[in-house]
Amino acid sequence: MCGIVGYVGDREAAQFLLEGLTKLEYRGYDSAGVAVFDGENIRVEKSVGRLAELKEKLGGNIPVGTMGIGHTRWATHGRPSDLNSHPHTDCAGDFVVVHNGIIENYLALKEELVKKGHKFLSETDTEVLPHLLEEVYDGDFEAAVREVLHRIEGSYSIVFMSRRDPGKLICSKQDNPLVIGLGKGENFIASDIPAIIAHTRRTYILSDGEMAVVTKVGVSIMNYAGVPIRKKVFEVNWNAEAAEKGGFEHFMLKEIHEQPKAVRATLSARIEKDESAVVLEELAWDKAFIDGVHRIFIVACGTAYHAGLVGKYYIENMARIPVECDIASEFRYRSPIIDDHTLTIVVSQSGETIDTLAALKEAKRLGSKTLAVTNVVGSSIAREADQVVYTWAGPEIAVASTKAYTTQLIVMLLLGLYMAQIRGSLPKERIVELVRGLKEIPTQISRTLEDVDPIKTFARQYGFNEHVFFIGRSLDYDVALEGSLKLKEISYIHAEAYAAGELKHGTLALIVDSLPVIAIATQKSVYEKTLSNIKEVKARDAVVIGIASVTDTELEKYADHVIKVPETDEMLIPLLAVVPLQLLAYYAAITRGCDVDKPRNLAKSVTVE
Ligand code: AGP
Ligand code: GLU
Repeated sequence: MCGIVGYVGDREAAQFLLEGLTKLEYRGYDSAGVAVFDGENIRVEKSVGRLAELKEKLGGNIPVGTMGIGHTRWATHGRPSDLNSHPHTDCAGDFVVVHNGIIENYLALKEELVKKGHKFLSETDTEVLPHLLEEVYDGDFEAAVREVLHRIEGSYSIVFMSRRDPGKLICSKQDNPLVIGLGKGENFIASDIPAIIAHTRRTYILSDGEMAVVTKVGVSIMNYAGVPIRKKVFEVNWNAEAAEKGGFEHFMLKEIHEQPKAVRATLSARIEKDESAVVLEELAWDKAFIDGVHRIFIVACGTAYHAGLVGKYYIENMARIPVECDIASEFRYRSPIIDDHTLTIVVSQSGETIDTLAALKEAKRLGSKTLAVTNVVGSSIAREADQVVYTWAGPEIAVASTKAYTTQLIVMLLLGLYMAQIRGSLPKERIVELVRGLKEIPTQISRTLEDVDPIKTFARQYGFNEHVFFIGRSLDYDVALEGSLKLKEISYIHAEAYAAGELKHGTLALIVDSLPVIAIATQKSVYEKTLSNIKEVKARDAVVIGIASVTDTELEKYADHVIKVPETDEMLIPLLAVVPLQLLAYYAAITRGCDVDKPRNLAKSVTVE
């Protein structure tokens, strides 16, 4: 999820490693470390906290040597700590590894390796890599790495270094980025281009399933079977700023496009291989625990609250446990009725939102069981709650939350299914149907992201309107709320989201000629009713932009424009329907010349009440 660097050449490696990691700092991280080979031994130095803390720890005693690897960690498995920081080593200190991403089958591998006598020092998934390498190593570093790559499952970019095979770094990737920078008599490895562009613009961008052996004089690329691959050199012509955003104009757009990958990460290791059920190992709830939960509160702010609303629908629908969804800043002042049969679920991307943290503390004080759904391992909210399910979306930098929302929805769905499995409240076939649907979502989000031209056109056409309405029923209403918040937040357009059936109880008075109304109509159970509400606004000459499933043929008869999203189960469609709304907000903000990543008056993490 965070930063990787590697160097092999004639210069002091540590210099590049520390400088390269500094260039990746913008991504956010919780700890940092380097490992340098001095010709005989590997010296590993790591520290929780900022790079400055690592540098302070090193003082003048910088590791010496011309080959090394470095890492900034964004914890997924195990809290941020010195021990959990990368690089990780095997028992003998012969191999070191830095890794971004998640090794899904690490528990099984760890168990096997512990039985064989390997001593683990950290709580990370990553540490299985050097130990597995040590276990399979038989005098051939490359062959051993190939064996490791065959054995692991998950998403990763990894760099391996060995004391036994000096002068050689081996790297590979799956679903996470990795680039090799080509120098003269030296070569570089990095998870992102900004780390290397001060040194070279000639790169190889590794593809999934490729492995590269990097020495100071050359780079050879092959697949996991060892078959050589010819790769074209990619000349980077981005400037440093564009490189940080992976070539996207803003972090928000980058993060919108990262959603397929983020959702895949959230789902990783949480679905049974045969797709028959969900697994939440971190919870390990049983029937007695669930039967002891008579009422659930979901408490959060902003976008996370909107994810909570969808969560309420999922949990009530699947697990048949009553759920109340509260805005965190209201919750603690309304003397909620809580006892030890209550479960309070707090949702927070940052894990630091003070309103949410205070609500969590209040729920705890009143005797509730607590569960945090958050993106940041070791955050205040993660530490305060009894249990945590992480979203694993990777760092979110733009103030406007996008990939955090979709991954929170995924966790809500997993929670609903998990509770339903234990309670037996949903037929097995329905669970399988939803799990299968879930597996398709990343690809379907990618497909939704392919056709942005009509959205750009609407944004240009309607971006200068001062008022916009969003309407929908049921889950579509929850998505409407999120779409409207996104638009307000970054384009400063006044947007209102209404439950479509509620318009006629007052708000319809505001619908006038040419007013844009975004109507979300994906829910079959309320489809006809939503159509009637769309007709109501059309009769007042509003301009209707509809969001519907690709199979829909009705909506275009009433709406002025229709944006279609791939066909999926109506429970899952919010995961797709929100994407055009995120893009619409983004392009409307661009049309109006707003500062997309840093909207006025707002902060990424709100640590005041
Ligand atoms: C989302 O676009 C907003 N920036 C904001 O509503 C955010 O979701 C809210 O402040 C909660 O933050 P959290 O998820 O970090 O707790
Ligand atoms: N899963 C690994 C860990 O928690 C890697 C995290 C990262 O990508 O920085 O240590």
